[in-house]
Amino acid sequence: MLPAIRIAPSILAADFTRLGQHIAEAEAGGGDQIHIDVMDGRFVPNITMGPLVVQAARRATALPLDVHLMIVEPERHIPAFIDAGASNITVHVEVCAHLHRVVQQIHQAGAAASVALNPHSPACQIKEILPFVDMVLVMTVNPGFGGQSFIDQMLLKIREIREMSRALGKPLDIQVDGGIDAHTAQQVVAHGANVLVVGTAVFGAAEGIQASIAAIRASAESGKAKT
Ligand code: DX5
Ligand code: ZN
Repeated sequence: MLPAIRIAPSILAADFTRLGQHIAEAEAGGGDQIHIDVMDGRFVPNITMGPLVVQAARRATALPLDVHLMIVEPERHIPAFIDAGASNITVHVEVCAHLHRVVQQIHQAGAAASVALNPHSPACQIKEILPFVDMVLVMTVNPGFGGQSFIDQMLLKIREIREMSRALGKPLDIQVDGGIDAHTAQQVVAHGANVLVVGTAVFGAAEGIQASIAAIRASAESGKAKT
């Protein structure tokens, strides 16, 4: 059995002049958690938001705040993001020489802990950390920018991690991020993902935030029937 499907609108694609309003619309429109992309211009080419934006988002919604750290040395900044209101912190395996220690640090500070894999990083890289984490994020684009195309080959990695989770007897959340829309949602869920980050296909949708979330959820639920 797959854990419940959750949709995580990514504010990277929101209108920053109306951020509070866009977050409120994502909540009213059926989003389950708000995804916040933190980029440092070092691990990824782009620079985005810091704890101040997490604090502002915390005031705009009651939903969990899912903070995706695309930064080097995340351990230096984790306390600030949790103080700002992060419910979950995701760190990349590619930047953590002491990943277990970082996961402990996140838990001790009171947040859920997740680990992310870039497209080139194999599923086996998280085998030993799996019993300790709340969620795994499979990047389905190279991190750094919204609006990129989904990398199909990531479907097999999602399936592999779902199998690892079953073998452990642990109903792990598997999150996907990048190029998710009403078409790819069904595919990723059919391969074992259950938490879907969606930026452009929600905040850039001509049909509006609520209708796009509904369409993505319907597609995801139809994928669940195929697992
Ligand atoms: C990319 C970010 C994503 C981004 C996804 O590095 O981690 O969360 O917002 O955007 P879309 O859904 O437009 O691919
Ligand atoms: Zn992200």
